[in-house]
Amino acid sequence: MKVDVLLGLQWGDEGKGKVVDVLTPQYDIIARFQGGPNAGHTIEFDGKKFVLHTIPSGIFNPSTTNLIGNGVIIDPFVFEKEVESLETSGVQVRKNLLISRKAHLILPSHRLLDAVYEASRGTLKIGSTLKGIGPAYTDKTSRNGLRVGDIESPLFLEKYNALKQQHFAMAKSYHPDYMDIMIEGLSFDAYENRWLSACDTLRSIEKVNSEYYINKQLDLGKKVLAEGAQGTMLDIDFGSYPFVTSSNTITAGVCSGLGVAPSRIGKVIGIFKAYCTRVGSGPFPTELFDLSGDQLRETGHEFGSTTGRPRRCGWLDIPALKYAIMLNGVNELVMMKADVLDAFETIKVASQYEIDGKSTNVVPYDQVNTLCIPVYKEITGWNTSLEVAASYEELPENLHHYVNFIEKETQTPIKVVSVGPDRLQTFIR
Ligand code: GDP
Ligand code: IMO
Ligand code: MG
Repeated sequence: MKVDVLLGLQWGDEGKGKVVDVLTPQYDIIARFQGGPNAGHTIEFDGKKFVLHTIPSGIFNPSTTNLIGNGVIIDPFVFEKEVESLETSGVQVRKNLLISRKAHLILPSHRLLDAVYEASRGTLKIGSTLKGIGPAYTDKTSRNGLRVGDIESPLFLEKYNALKQQHFAMAKSYHPDYMDIMIEGLSFDAYENRWLSACDTLRSIEKVNSEYYINKQLDLGKKVLAEGAQGTMLDIDFGSYPFVTSSNTITAGVCSGLGVAPSRIGKVIGIFKAYCTRVGSGPFPTELFDLSGDQLRETGHEFGSTTGRPRRCGWLDIPALKYAIMLNGVNELVMMKADVLDAFETIKVASQYEIDGKSTNVVPYDQVNTLCIPVYKEITGWNTSLEVAASYEELPENLHHYVNFIEKETQTPIKVVSVGPDRLQTFIR
């Protein structure tokens, strides 16, 4: 068997959690391969709403195993809160969760560093979620990091303290009063105590050498879906650097983040919103600063699942979507949040950019300093509520036109259209 992949094609928050949850009954294993608690994946069913940060979105199906792969970074504090909140709601977390020993840990001092680095950037702030992502991945690549497997070692505290002291020295050079920085509303010492005790929750979860585990399961014929976090335009290599996250969010990240060979990648499902959003700083060619932008934000409840920050909103960006389809080898598209466009008489789509007076489909090398003026096509809206539709066929004709238009532009089929946050508000074509 091969690993299917579902990942975001925009700047994150496309609705990955919802669609992974909907697809989970078709899979034996759901695996996260990158990112960490910067992710916030929302799942709604039976009038309940859950937001997952580290745990894969297959956790609500009692017969699916969920794997946190080696490419993910884990904060024991956030992880423990997530486990407790799911267990309080009656979800059997421990029975269906496996963690790679090679996944790296986010230390309390990584979060201090994230805060001092971000503060030092002044007007060039990334808009990080401040979950310690950049510093933890930096330690991984500079070969200083601590891994989940280390928490089982008798030398764990010694290694932890040595790394913490290094971080303190760095933090001090940026911010002499670094110990005044609060983490999750707590002083460093209070947070550290909670973090250290949360390591026990992490110890209690079954660990695996996930590369062997996943390859064996594929050999046995098990079906695996890899769940992306963030989005292609936040990829460390191909996103709008430096306004990106610190991992490879694209299909290639599945290979390194789970330990599967490229030849074992199966179907790649790319997910996008019917418009665009971005949270944090960085270029966004189709961003709207007018009432239409406010309308998208209000109707789409576009406020961050992890930080609560308002998301920036704009029209669909076809050059960026095509770029993401190319980078990921997308075979199928999923379009989310069509219902948010219900009240628009006209919908705009950027079919090209104009750069230096020339039309182009190419996302430029320097996305930050190149002026990309969107060239818009206008599509007549459906101007009606999608609530009454019970199937794709029953959706308004103008929405069908919109779907067909995007398929033609991207040369990729749209297999799923989502018209609301609930599991049931999902139409498979
Ligand atoms: P993720 O990070 O990609 O999993 O996405 P988020 O959970 O951060 O953000 C997506 C938001 O849109 C969540 O609040 C979802 O409940 C919501 N959502 C998902 N699909 C739809 C949809 O089709 N329509 C509407 N209105 N909301 C949706
Ligand atoms: P999900 O998985 C949207 C953004 C941050 C910031 C930049 C770097 O829910 O789609 P970081 O915390 O990684 O240092 O932040 O990336 N960002 C996200 N935006 N959805 C996410 O995850 C994100 N994870 C990080 O806002 O601009
Ligand atoms: Mg999210």
